[in-house]
Parts: sequence; structure tokens; C-alpha cells
Amino acid sequence: MSEKFFNYKSVNDIRKNVKELGLDIAFEEKLEEMFKPVKIGNRTIGNALGIHPMEGCDGTLDGKPGELTFRRWRRFGEGGAKLIWGEATAVVPEALANPRQLLMNEKNLPEFERLLKETRSAHRRIYESDGDLLVGLQLTHSGRYSYRRPLIVYHHAQADSVTYVDKSRGITVSKHYPVLTDDELDRLQDAFLLAARRACKLGFDFIDIKQCHTYLLNELLGARIRSGKYGGSFENRTRFVKEVLSRIRDELGNKVMVASRFNAFDGVPFRKDPVTGKGTPIPFETPYPYSFGVDQQSPLNEDLAEPLKLVRLLREHGVVMVNVSMGSPYYNMHYGRPFERTPDDGYYPPEPPLVGVERHFRITGAIQQAFPDLVVVGTGYSWLRQFLLNAGEANIRRKRVTIVATGRGAIAYPDYAKDARETGAMKSSKVCLAISYCTNLMRSKNNELGQYPTGCVPRDEVYTPIYKEVLGKKAKEPEPHAEVH
Ligand SMILES: Cc1cc2nc3c(=O)[nH]c(=O)nc-3n(C[C@H](O)[C@H](O)[C@H](O)COP(=O)(O)O)c2cc1C
Repeated sequence: MSEKFFNYKSVNDIRKNVKELGLDIAFEEKLEEMFKPVKIGNRTIGNALGIHPMEGCDGTLDGKPGELTFRRWRRFGEGGAKLIWGEATAVVPEALANPRQLLMNEKNLPEFERLLKETRSAHRRIYESDGDLLVGLQLTHSGRYSYRRPLIVYHHAQADSVTYVDKSRGITVSKHYPVLTDDELDRLQDAFLLAARRACKLGFDFIDIKQCHTYLLNELLGARIRSGKYGGSFENRTRFVKEVLSRIRDELGNKVMVASRFNAFDGVPFRKDPVTGKGTPIPFETPYPYSFGVDQQSPLNEDLAEPLKLVRLLREHGVVMVNVSMGSPYYNMHYGRPFERTPDDGYYPPEPPLVGVERHFRITGAIQQAFPDLVVVGTGYSWLRQFLLNAGEANIRRKRVTIVATGRGAIAYPDYAKDARETGAMKSSKVCLAISYCTNLMRSKNNELGQYPTGCVPRDEVYTPIYKEVLGKKAKEPEPHAEVH
């Protein structure tokens, strides 16, 4: 099954399709507001354009940035977007999502320092000053998706059924699989604090306490059926993040700004329908007791009451900027990153990608409108290709977002902000095609390092031979691996 969704030659073509689908997405032809400075905490950045955290699975086996990591960050530095949201960096080794994810520890500090320096000097080389550039780092614990073994905080019936303890043998998380204890979670708070201290010492402008994409802190937000001090009530489910933020503020004060990328809507797990190939929800019962931001009576829809409460609480605990995301890259990837073509082990989109884009805009808009003076970073733009900034400009003008950022779009086209500034538009020859090659590389594990690096295959020639090698091996394999990011 392969349908072409992106069939637009002009902004008017998309407008027409938006209308046909009954969606609310506006486009502005003239890019203006996005080039104005934005105040974030005690700093001001030069434009309202950003780059989302995009890991390249290209660190060394001891968690240091590798050559391709340095290259990616330099390209982001040269790109002209003034908010660079550095990628997932594990706070302890057992929290790594893959063997080549970055790991924050004492030994790796010099390389992290070099990464930050090179990113900033790449920016200075082109734009003279980097005083209006903000570079942050995302601190993460992969929880259920830690590659050594799943570390879960509660049993989620549908998610458990697609969480592998041993992928090669198809063994999933059973109901007897242990759940992290309160003591273990207490100790993980210390790990986040230590990583924050290190990132601050290195000079990152902000740190992100990651609560998205169904990793550990995101899972905690939905741990209604967990007992003990980290489960049940909203108060308990947010205990971890509240305590970590308080401890960071007590110790680091204003030395580093604190941000959080969080899921405003987890959705329910999907799987591929064996007949149609389409993504279809794994059967569930209502009231749905799991996950965050879902309507418990009708969990395919969002209920933003708790996400809004969370944002209020994050602000009270010193968070100056939120990055709104959704879904799980493992079991409902169409929510987080609307795509044109499915990753090899994914599914055919259960809805037009434009519907997914609108969900991002709607939910992010609701959060921005509830907190008009908070810096809110928006996600889900890349599928719109060269028209993403036209939508971003409209969202900024309609006060539905503060900063427009791209993820896949940025690895395809790191200097999108520079081109837009110089010519008033993005070049269609450089945009992300959303055909999931980056995800395919990410799930390719069968090299000597246990992980292939990922990047943009159609737009960045460095990844052509890597992709060819992966395809060559896959052709000889009986069964593809089953993991996505
Ligand atoms: C290869 C790849 C790496 C990613 N790495 C991260 C990451 O380190 N941290 C994170 O929060 N999201 C990560 N994401 C998700 C993106 O930041 C972003 O949310 C998603 O791609 C949707 O935005 P887009 O439409 O602009 O691509 C990654 C996605 C991909 C495809």
C-alpha cells in the first residue's frame, strides 16, 4: 500500500486540502514574525526558529560524541536557527536507548565541552556573534526502551505486549516483569541532578528534563495504576519531576535555565493490521487507566486537563520553556512525526499526515493560549516540507506557538533558517521528504557496534553508503528487526 499524500505545488494547494479535510491550519506567505528576537528566561535569542533534539546514534561505545555527532552539531550551529535543542543524553548507562547514545558522566565531559564549543564557533563563523544563540541538552532515561533491558514504572497492558525483553526471540514484558521500585526512582533523581550539574558546568544554556515519547519520566506521568509515592494521583505521578526540578533550582539557581520536552498526548499503542497494513489501535477497554493526556473514556482523543496542570506546575518549579510533543516512536509513530512513507517495521498511516500535523498545532496552541507568556516550542512541522515556515509564521501570529522548530527537517536541511532569512522561503530541493529512512537506519543494529548511525539519506550524501550497506545486509536476512525510534 503506498499512497502519495504530499501533492502540493503551492501554499494554496495545501490550503485547499486543509479545507477539504475540515482542519484548522493557516499559512502566511510573508515570513516576518519568526525573524524577531524572542526572550527566554534571562536571555534573548535572535529569531523564533529552532532545531529539535535529533540523536544520530553515532556516539562512541562509552557515550562520547563521535565524528558524525560533531558534524551534525556544527551543521546545526551554521544553520541560523537560534534555538538548538541538543539531543537525548542518558543520565546513567542503564538508561541508554541504544549503545551509541550520548552518556553524561565525568569521563565524557571534555568531549561534551568540545561539542558545545564547536557548535558555537560554527555559528560565529557565519553570523559573527553567538550571543543570541541558545544551546541546550536533553537529559533522558529511556525507561521502557532502555536497550539493555526495559525499565518500566507500571504495567501498561497494550504497551507491555509490544515491549521486548528479548527481541530476537520475540519475548515481551510479562505481567511478572519487575517494576522499578520507589527506592530505585529516588536514586534516579540523584542521577538527573548530577547530570544537570555537569551540563551546567559545561556551559549549556539550558537543560531539558525529558518527559516525552513514552520514556521513563513520560511513563511516570501516566502511572495511575502504580501504588506508592510515585503512582496514582496527579500529585504522586508528578513527584519525580517536581523533586528533581526543586533540587536543581536549590543547587544551581539561575546558573542554567531549565526546560522540558513533554508529551501532551501519549495516545494508545497501535500495530500494523495484517490485512491492510494500516496502523490500528491494539484493543483496549474503557475507562482507559493508562498514559498521559488521553481522554480516559475515549483514549483516541486528547484530554488536556492534566497536561495543562503539568505546565503550570513546571513553571512554578522554574521551567522557562516547554517543547510540546506527543506519542511514542515505538507504538504510535504517526502521532509524533507525521510521515509520508512508513518505516520498514511501521505501518501505513491510519490518517492523512495533515491530520497529525493539525493535532500537533491544536494541542500546542491550547497550551500556548493557556500560558501566553510562556515560551512554547512547537513540533510536527517537517512533513509540510518547504511550506512548514508558512504554517509556523501563521501559528506565531495566531499566538499558537512561540518558537517553530524542526526535527527531521533539520537533519535534511540544517540551514533552513538561513535560506528563509536570505530569500524569504525554504528551498524545495533541500527539504525532508518524511520517507523514514532515518528511522530505518536507527533501527539497524547489525554492525560491529550494535548500532548504525542515522541521518538524512536523501539529502546528506554521508549516509548513502551507510544505507546501501544496511540494505545489502537486509537483503540477506530472513527477518527484519522490529524497533523504531
Ligand atoms: C532520527 C531521529 C532522532 C530523534 N532524536 C530525538 C531525541 O534525541 N530527542 C527527542 O526528544 N526526540 C527525538 N526525535 C523526535 C524529533 O525530535 C521530533 O519530535 C519528530 O521527528 C517530529 O518532528 P518533525 O516533524 O520536525 O520531524 C528523533 C526523531 C528521529 C527521526
